Amino acid sequence: MKRRQTIALTAALCAGLLAMPATAQQKLKVGLMLPYTGTFAALGNAIENGFKLYVQEQGGKIGGREIEYFRVDDESDPAKATDNVGKLINRDKVDVVVGTVHSGVVMAMAKVARDSNTLLIVPNAGANALTGPMCAPNIFRSSFSNWQSAYAAGVVAAERGHKTAASITWKYAAGDEMASAFKEGFAKGGGKVVKELNLPFPGVEFQALLTEIASLKPDATFAFFAGGGAVKFVKDYAAAGLMKSVPLYGPGFLTDGTLEAQGAAAQGVLTTLHYADDLPNAKDKSFRLGYAKTYKLQPDVYAAQGYDAAQLLGAGLSGVNGDVSRRADMIKAMEAAKIDSPRGAFTLSKAHNPVHDIYLRKVEGNSNKYQKVAVKALADPATGCKM
Ligand code: PHB
Repeated sequence: MKRRQTIALTAALCAGLLAMPATAQQKLKVGLMLPYTGTFAALGNAIENGFKLYVQEQGGKIGGREIEYFRVDDESDPAKATDNVGKLINRDKVDVVVGTVHSGVVMAMAKVARDSNTLLIVPNAGANALTGPMCAPNIFRSSFSNWQSAYAAGVVAAERGHKTAASITWKYAAGDEMASAFKEGFAKGGGKVVKELNLPFPGVEFQALLTEIASLKPDATFAFFAGGGAVKFVKDYAAAGLMKSVPLYGPGFLTDGTLEAQGAAAQGVLTTLHYADDLPNAKDKSFRLGYAKTYKLQPDVYAAQGYDAAQLLGAGLSGVNGDVSRRADMIKAMEAAKIDSPRGAFTLSKAHNPVHDIYLRKVEGNSNKYQKVAVKALADPATGCKM
């Protein structure tokens, strides 16, 4: 190419680039802070897969921006959370952090996000405080609050005629909050929790506690475990011969993404969640097909929440043509978004938490089969959120 032509071409290219906002020329840096090891490893991987599936469906760009991913394994360890999120924010200089699964870890992340004004999208961790006292303009959740997921299980257990229940869970924020929400929903229908059992996270030494349930003989058990811990708990509960004598209930995390490993033990278990494996909506059908084709795996609630985190980010980016420096406008676009989710379309509450239907599901084979809407359009009370 002649020198004059080269100069002309360079000038034309520069003019084109200058017409775009400066940030839109670069890749958008997305920091994924998720558990890739430990009892929640499968959950972290499903969230990442779901997120990337949505981006892939959009041709690799959202809001006109290509994406560059940065990953940190948070190991579901709250003690390492501040350092881990600092790596994404200070070292990698990400535009947005997407994470995490564990309620204790997310609370540390939220503090850093507030102090540094980093945009944070939470694709699982249900800590009530995140969209309660810790709510902030730059913090969003595409998943659920712990209260939402377990309150509905209490309502259902009472509806089904149970009068007494024991609860069993890990001793940390999510376990405490779910046990307490179950108790509230159950009490509303006239039920009483007679014993609250727990063990340290991520322990799986259930035997002594199961023996206690067997001797207490409550009408029902409410359990919150997830991932590897849920697999072991459901198998141990069945092996202890409790499935028939003391029916097991839980938030759907107890049987989501776990059924192949739980096998016969989980059959018939009733859970409540904002997702089921056979929802009657077109978006879920296309999501499930796309996920199975891309990953040779069946999706679960975690995959759907990762997908929705990407949709929510996409809505914000589209509102500002990819220019994240227009933060206030981007937040407005995210707040106004109607997310076409596999769970059914949802909007966000003022505290930035999904308002969604909670379904009753029953395990049949490898499927959490939809039974009915347990509670319609359930919003977290967002106690303490001033925004
Ligand atoms: C949480 O710690 O908030 C949590 C973890 C796993 C779940 C649900 C909630 O499946």
